[in-house]
Amino acid sequence: MKAKIHKKPLKHFLSITDLSAKEILSILSLSQKLKKELKEEDSNKELLKGETLAMIFEKPSLRTRLSFEIGMTQLGGHAIYLAPADIGLNTREPAEDVAQVISSMADLIMARTFKHETIEKLAANSLVPVINALSDLEHPCQILADMLTILEVKRKLKGLSIAYVGDCENNVTHSLCLSCAILGINFSTASPHGYEIKKEILEKAKKLAGKKSRITETSRPQEAVINADVVITDTWISMGDEAEKEKRLRIFKPYQVNKKLMSRAKKDAIFMHCLPAYRGNEVTSEVIDGKQSVVFQEAENRLHAQKALILYLLNYN
Ligand code: CP
Ligand code: NVA
Repeated sequence: MKAKIHKKPLKHFLSITDLSAKEILSILSLSQKLKKELKEEDSNKELLKGETLAMIFEKPSLRTRLSFEIGMTQLGGHAIYLAPADIGLNTREPAEDVAQVISSMADLIMARTFKHETIEKLAANSLVPVINALSDLEHPCQILADMLTILEVKRKLKGLSIAYVGDCENNVTHSLCLSCAILGINFSTASPHGYEIKKEILEKAKKLAGKKSRITETSRPQEAVINADVVITDTWISMGDEAEKEKRLRIFKPYQVNKKLMSRAKKDAIFMHCLPAYRGNEVTSEVIDGKQSVVFQEAENRLHAQKALILYLLNYN
């Protein structure tokens, strides 16, 4: 089994743009196989026996920690959780040194940080793959699970229309926008002025999209969701934005995903959210707990997508 893992070439996953459309689709296909195997046989093959993943967290997590840790266990490997206070990343020890030490022992590094730059520093100094498990700029692991969920429900990706309503200067929105561009999915956003997708991300996405997909921005939610196959939102107060809570609650109020807004999307549109969700703020209970919502399927898919991603990064074949 172990012979199927190759340490070379060294691949990192810092941005969803580290993958081509073909690579994303192949990871999704492997995710589906691993999911099927787990459901049918109650276990996966021990493809990662003897492999260790070191998980660095500067922020809280439920799904990301669970999916990486359980994923490693199910594939016969091991994961180590390093809490913010354990390492003191950039305070007790610089990211560069941390990366060199961890990569001399572990086979993979996963990091959830405030600054995207910290993950870049880890990758630049690591001899093993580094995975972005959320930074202020991107959340690419979430997007693999989201695409897996959309593929399961809609049976295709290319040509679909996804609408995102809310805080667009956001890690989830950024990775989503880039992935839609790569995969030929139309992407429309609605956000208040000042909370649009970061300029450099939008430019990159438009370049990647070419003629394959349309990327549009508006400040009117009612406009963004028209004819959407998928409606997505995220918290208005991301980790690190807590000081702006009152201001954000006020500004984003008209951007709530509710039944009326969902009724403007396609009849069979689905609702997605990476979770944790704040019912009554970015989404009503009626929508997130309603029939169109696939949020728990989406959360479970973190597990299956994570496993396939790890195997891809370790050049499993
Ligand atoms: N969606 C997501 O990344 O969840 P956690 O913050 O709980 O890991
Ligand atoms: N945008 C959110 C995602 C949480 C999974 C945050 O960064 O807090």
